[in-house]
Amino acid sequence: MSSHQPIACLAPLDGFTDMAYRRIVRKLNPGVILFSEFTSVNGIKHSEIVRNRLKFKEEELPYVIQLFGNDPELFAQTVEQFQDSGITGIDINMGCPSKNVVRSNSGGSLMKDQELACRIVEACCKKSTIPVSVKTRLGWSDDSDLIPFIKALVNAGAQSISIHGRTYKQKYKGEANWEPIYRLKDEIAVPVIGNGDLKGLEHSMEMLKNLDGFMIGRAAIGNPWVFWPDAEREKVTLNDKIEVMIQHYLLLREFKQEKHALVEFRKHISGYIVGFPGAKACRTMLMHSENEKEFIANAQTLAQYTE
Ligand SMILES: Cc1cc2nc3c(=O)[nH]c(=O)nc-3n(C[C@H](O)[C@H](O)[C@H](O)COP(=O)(O)O)c2cc1C
Repeated sequence: MSSHQPIACLAPLDGFTDMAYRRIVRKLNPGVILFSEFTSVNGIKHSEIVRNRLKFKEEELPYVIQLFGNDPELFAQTVEQFQDSGITGIDINMGCPSKNVVRSNSGGSLMKDQELACRIVEACCKKSTIPVSVKTRLGWSDDSDLIPFIKALVNAGAQSISIHGRTYKQKYKGEANWEPIYRLKDEIAVPVIGNGDLKGLEHSMEMLKNLDGFMIGRAAIGNPWVFWPDAEREKVTLNDKIEVMIQHYLLLREFKQEKHALVEFRKHISGYIVGFPGAKACRTMLMHSENEKEFIANAQTLAQYTE
């Protein structure tokens, strides 16, 4: 294992790691690198709504914007547009298995098109004064191409690589396999970050082995304490969780109207309100709150009730 402190990252999670949640994670975890949700370079060019999704506050730094697309020229333009904004880096998505993304020769499908993948990395690096990284999977249907694929991306200029230990074909099925990621690290000089099924800090440290860092995704949903040592995490009370959940909701309200924020926030509730008798009924009550005043009042009642 490297003698340096490992790089800890909050994985990009579309629909979850927006500015509101990133600010919550940052408040509780000063050093963790935060990734934006993946964002289409095409969308950035044509839509203000999409551009707004990438806005960030200085407190979020270190913050990496993740892009997806299939056009090297558009990637280059996007890098030029964002590199002086203060962001820490640009990450290129080469792992997303969603049908629409793959159909447009973006995301995971770039694992099958090494030539285009390299042209995209080169186009970004040519313009970029900040680090360009790639997040991908083990491969399309198996891991046999992982090392040559990543070596080509590094030759094209990629300065760091994150790997989710599943193939495109696996989507989210089965267990993440970290063995090919450890083997990859022995073959390349740039930092390698492992990702897939991590449950917490101790678990991440166990899985780290020869890698430079780790990235946590789903286990961070409604659980910004996931980067804390287990002993600290166990001290977090339901009251603390409710307080942070309300702060999270109010941050979301800075850029969403009440009606939309309430609906959108439902998916976060199940992460915060879990793991105690009656949690399900509590979640249902919160999810059915008629308006924000009721939601906050319900949450606060829940805190007093369970203390
Ligand atoms: C709801 C959801 C949204 C995701 N969005 C993205 C994304 O925008 N960009 C990306 O590279 N990966 C995305 N992923 C994949 C995660 O970043 C991560 O690689 C994967 O979930 C495995 O890590 P985990 O087991 O820690 O969740 C998403 C996964 C989920 C479940």
